Amino acid sequence: MKRIAQLLGCALLLTTPLAAQQPDGAALYREQCKECHGAAGRPTKQAVSKYKNIKPFDAEFLAGRSDDSLVAVLQHGAKGGKEMKSFKEKLTPEEMVAVVKYVRTKFGGAGNP
Ligand code: HEC
Repeated sequence: MKRIAQLLGCALLLTTPLAAQQPDGAALYREQCKECHGAAGRPTKQAVSKYKNIKPFDAEFLAGRSDDSLVAVLQHGAKGGKEMKSFKEKLTPEEMVAVVKYVRTKFGGAGNP
């Protein structure tokens, strides 16, 4: 029995840091971004009526921006935080990278013109 407990403990130790290292970009997007930017990367009606400058995330938009610049938007907010607030209180740097990767692969691909 003690053996099994040790093995279980070992397995937990191995899986926990791995899970923490790879935040789920899709889930983060759903929780933090979808409300304004929409599930398909097209801003919601409410967001469009409230924020005139909000643009859809598509291949063209993403082609003009590096991952670093997108992470910087999350760190600092857009337009000095007036239009979109900084996410530095809500997301860790790793989570920012994960959500940016999600946005790029999900909305920047050929399947989403
Ligand atoms: C409260 C609404 C709101 C939420 C929530 C929100 N955004 Fe935004 N976002 C905006 C608005 C408004 C703009 C347009 C700002 C501008 O350029 O004037 C914007 C712009 C952006 C831009 C483009 C900046 C540029 O370079 O033009 C990126 C990238 C972005 N958001 C990513 C995200 C991600 C990723 C999340 C989730 C972590 C998120 N946003 C959550 C409102 C929001």
